[in-house]
Amino acid sequence: MADRDPEGLVRRLRDVVGPAGVVTDPGAQASYTRDWLGKWQGRVPVVVRPGNTQETAAVVRLCREAHTPIVPQGGNTGMSGGATPDASGAQVIVSTTRLQQVRAVDPVNNTMTVEAGVVLAQAQDAARGAGRFFPLSLGAEGSCTVGGNLATNAGGIAVLRYGNMRDLVLGLEVVLPDGRIWNGLRGLRKDNTGYDLRGLFVGSEGTLGIITAAVLKLFPQAAARATAWVGAASLEALLALLQQARARCGERLVAFEMMTDAALQLVLRHVADTRAPVAGAPPFHALVELADTEPSGLADALEQVLAGAMDAGLVGEAVIAASQSQAQALWKLREGISQAQVRAGPVVKHDIALPITVLPAFCGEAQAAVARTGLDTQVINFGHLGDGNLHYNVLLPAGLPPDAVKDATARLNRAVHDLVVRHTGSISAEHGVGQLRRDELRHYKSPVEMDLMLAIKRALDPNLIMNPGKLL
Ligand code: FAD
Ligand code: MLT
Ligand code: ZN
Repeated sequence: MADRDPEGLVRRLRDVVGPAGVVTDPGAQASYTRDWLGKWQGRVPVVVRPGNTQETAAVVRLCREAHTPIVPQGGNTGMSGGATPDASGAQVIVSTTRLQQVRAVDPVNNTMTVEAGVVLAQAQDAARGAGRFFPLSLGAEGSCTVGGNLATNAGGIAVLRYGNMRDLVLGLEVVLPDGRIWNGLRGLRKDNTGYDLRGLFVGSEGTLGIITAAVLKLFPQAAARATAWVGAASLEALLALLQQARARCGERLVAFEMMTDAALQLVLRHVADTRAPVAGAPPFHALVELADTEPSGLADALEQVLAGAMDAGLVGEAVIAASQSQAQALWKLREGISQAQVRAGPVVKHDIALPITVLPAFCGEAQAAVARTGLDTQVINFGHLGDGNLHYNVLLPAGLPPDAVKDATARLNRAVHDLVVRHTGSISAEHGVGQLRRDELRHYKSPVEMDLMLAIKRALDPNLIMNPGKLL
């Protein structure tokens, strides 16, 4: 801790947030100081859990006075180590988990104002309770928070139809690094009063301030959903199916997720109560979902799309869920991939975005590039095909020593990311940069872009106390 009197700081923080708002016992801190993948482990003198925005601002002011860096944390489900402190013991975690209020739901304006620590599933429930729909959806929705979703600009399974978190937010409240509160909680769809400050904080990964509340967009609830699983011989065939589904169903197409058979087999091996959805082992699979406010006709539309694709030889086996529980079983296969990978062994994660047109060529070249490393690997390729976002992950042998994992990670990153950049893609689509991709970002971003980002960082956080070592 840069502060010469760390115990004094902990005491002052406790005075602000009360005894229930500080965690100093290392055992009780364990779930905050380590990320869920077990890749990063940090150390802090205290985890501070302010109960409201004013307390959060007071905490930031105290940390600033004590020259103590802050690591903002929500649900700690991030994939890039952004919420894990370093091992110096000089940083403190500011957890938003007590910022729990749904402040307002306005079904006429189609907005809701929620605090940053509200868990995504609870935000979805609040919208549902008012007869509306909040569309952000991802595997960690039972534990990730709205603040974390904003700070990482989370994506997930419905970006194809509704956009990512950046597209779903209208206003923000943020505690700035100097402890002032910016109240930008406006529920406006038009507001041209200057620079896009809201946009700066979305995706800033805790490096520019602590988001304490947000105004989120709401949508009509679907009256019907239709879900199908298809097997296909190639990625090209799945892309053709995607085009046909879009052309025929328009905005009713809400999800188009892809996984290779290797990814599916991993889930079947490592996740309980799962079974193969279609016969045989087609090399590619897709989970397709339609939703509509109109209750009838959706299953027919999906059937027609699939029948047309079968006639055209695009897909082989296909199954349409006959009930909600069948649809859930299909989604369980898709959402089980993250867990299955963790159980299988060390995984080198690539969270990349490309124009969907180049995906087949990219995947062929990437397979060859991975093979050229000469490493013992298995590619687990899956993702949000409709958005061009692949999780081009590479499994390493279980039990590989940490140094060998580090070396393999560097070589595989270079092999895959060089290709991504050559195809004008992004090396960080939805999981953020955090500490995982910080060096990769510096390697690939142009000096101009890095300068612009650093200028913004210095302007907002001249003392560099917000989440140092992450992103930039
Ligand atoms: P944390 O992990 O706590 O923090 C993430 C980052 O945000 C850190 O840099 C932290 O400092 C910062 N931060 C957190 N809260 C605030 C705040 N209030 N103000 C400022 N900064 C803050 N992500 C996707 O995008 N798409 C997916 O499909 C997806 N699937 C997942 C599936 C599983 C099973 C898991 C475990 C994770 C998945 N994720 C996915 C990743 C993760 O859930 C998201 O990144 C999520 O948005 C993180 O939210 P969190 O509250 O857990 O944030
Ligand atoms: C997902 O889409 O399931 C996650 O974002 C990917 C991952 O676990 O790598
Ligand atoms: Zn994803």
